[in-house]
Amino acid sequence: MEPDFWHKRWHEKQIGFHLSEYNERLIEHYSELNLQAGDNVFIPLSGKTKDIHFFVEKNCSVIGCELSPIAVQDFFHESELHFESNDVAFSELKLHQSNDINIYEGDFFSLNSEQLSTVNVCYDRAALVALPQEMRKAYAQKLISTLPDSVRMLLVTLEYDQELKQGPPFSVTEEEVYFLYQDHFKIQKLSTTNTGEKQPKVVPTKAKSASSIGVQMIEKTYLLHNTVPPPIKGGG
Ligand SMILES: C[S@@+](CC[C@H](N)C(=O)[O-])C[C@H]1O[C@@H](n2cnc3c(N)ncnc32)[C@H](O)[C@@H]1O
Repeated sequence: MEPDFWHKRWHEKQIGFHLSEYNERLIEHYSELNLQAGDNVFIPLSGKTKDIHFFVEKNCSVIGCELSPIAVQDFFHESELHFESNDVAFSELKLHQSNDINIYEGDFFSLNSEQLSTVNVCYDRAALVALPQEMRKAYAQKLISTLPDSVRMLLVTLEYDQELKQGPPFSVTEEEVYFLYQDHFKIQKLSTTNTGEKQPKVVPTKAKSASSIGVQMIEKTYLLHNTVPPPIKGGG
């Protein structure tokens, strides 16, 4: 999606993806992330998600990255947090900071590995699935090349019949998750959840009427991590 698409969505408050509570999959699976106090969590395409506070409450610090200045401002104002803003040298990014929360305003693809060098956990909810297929490989490659190798990632995807609905959110199959990440991470599927009627309104591509169509969506949650292989017993 072009930046204008998202700027318009935020300007017109078309933000059905935003949750007023913590994400249920995060609550369900954060323990499998093995979060430690002091961990630094990266949230790509962060919107104004309340999940930032979830991690701060676990004594983690958070780095977000979000294109929309409206989203960033809303996040700090709605959280009643005082924050400072600075331009990032030699880049079009701005950095907004409040204690344990750092949010880069600008294009995720402008981030560099130095800015993310302290990250040990990545949380992708509604980020990979926000991107059309032609951008998803570049997105995954950017994460892989910019984050430290030891990062642990919680990834939440959606699967549905893409013929029945235009994204975003886009359907990202298990096969695609493996295609994007298996060369770099061990991939463990943690859960499969039928989201039933909870999904935002749909805009079908082929159907006659947009209003009456419900698309069944399956949410899948994965843990991605790199582990040092155990020594081979009795080998040699
Ligand atoms: C579907 S929303 C999800 C937001 C958040 N992860 C959540 O769970 O509420 C996707 C967000 O990504 C932002 N975005 C899209 N492309 C981006 C990019 N290239 N760099 C940074 N943010 C981007 C959009 O403005 C939007 O807020």
